[in-house]
Amino acid sequence: MSIANQRILIIGGSSGMGLASASRLVQAGAEVFITGRDAAKLDAAVSSLDGKAMSIEADFTDPASLKALMRRIGRLDHLVLAAAGPAAWGPFAQLPVEAVRIALHTKLVGYWQSLQAALPILRRDGSVVFMTGAASRVAMNGTAGLAAVNGGITQMAQTLAKELAPLRVNVVSPGLVDTPAYDGMPAEAKAGMFAGAARSLPVGRTGVPDDIAQCVEMLVGNTFATGMVLDIDGGARTPL
Ligand SMILES: NC(=O)c1ccc[n+]([C@@H]2O[C@H](COP(=O)([O-])OP(=O)(O)OC[C@H]3O[C@@H](n4cnc5c(N)ncnc54)[C@H](OP(=O)(O)O)[C@@H]3O)[C@@H](O)[C@H]2O)c1
Repeated sequence: MSIANQRILIIGGSSGMGLASASRLVQAGAEVFITGRDAAKLDAAVSSLDGKAMSIEADFTDPASLKALMRRIGRLDHLVLAAAGPAAWGPFAQLPVEAVRIALHTKLVGYWQSLQAALPILRRDGSVVFMTGAASRVAMNGTAGLAAVNGGITQMAQTLAKELAPLRVNVVSPGLVDTPAYDGMPAEAKAGMFAGAARSLPVGRTGVPDDIAQCVEMLVGNTFATGMVLDIDGGARTPL
């Protein structure tokens, strides 16, 4: 299916993989809306897209904000959920339950209520793409919190591909990708983490946002794709 002129909302579209997806979809001729909480970040994102997307401030953890967002957009063909939440990262035995609660409440509940809010304006045979993460697809020490959040979204998506049909519901599961999500890390620690991951991956490198955006574009446009989990992780499930 051609993506040209399709109305697509990317929640978390002002940065990283959401922004890279916006770029691909805009280039394919779609009418793209991007959201995030930070107005300055949204403005910068729209500039980087040569003004070819529309930005709307919205918080996916706030039902009233989501309702206002959907009212403003009015009609949608596709929804892409690429927003991030605080990650519950660390050894299981020490990870505070409160960190897990916040992570689940932000990303899993956030994605849930975003789709619920979008449903009344979403084309019945349109599509949804959820962005999860490789930690829910491969066992890695210290990632039980990430696995719980993203694994929950993955299983929810499988059920929704049936329950909400003919709406297509798919998951993109990225491995480690260099995005602004890691801007807060000390440079040396970040470089070490990315170099270590690259050494362990069959492809010999970590991801860039466009690697993932290619998958989002495919899942939005391919009308035979539903109930899929697309692992785009450089081979994280078959490490060297
Ligand atoms: N990068 C990786 O290595 C990696 C690996 C596996 C999975 N993932 C997952 O992939 C997704 C995208 O990650 P990324 O690295 O591209 O992140 P990113 O660059 O930090 O971008 C996150 C986006 O989410 C938005 N956002 C955050 N909280 C929000 C809220 N409450 N309401 C609305 N928007 C919100 C941000 O805008 P504002 O801050 O302005 O709100 C931004 O647009 C995340 O779900 C992440 O868990 C990432």
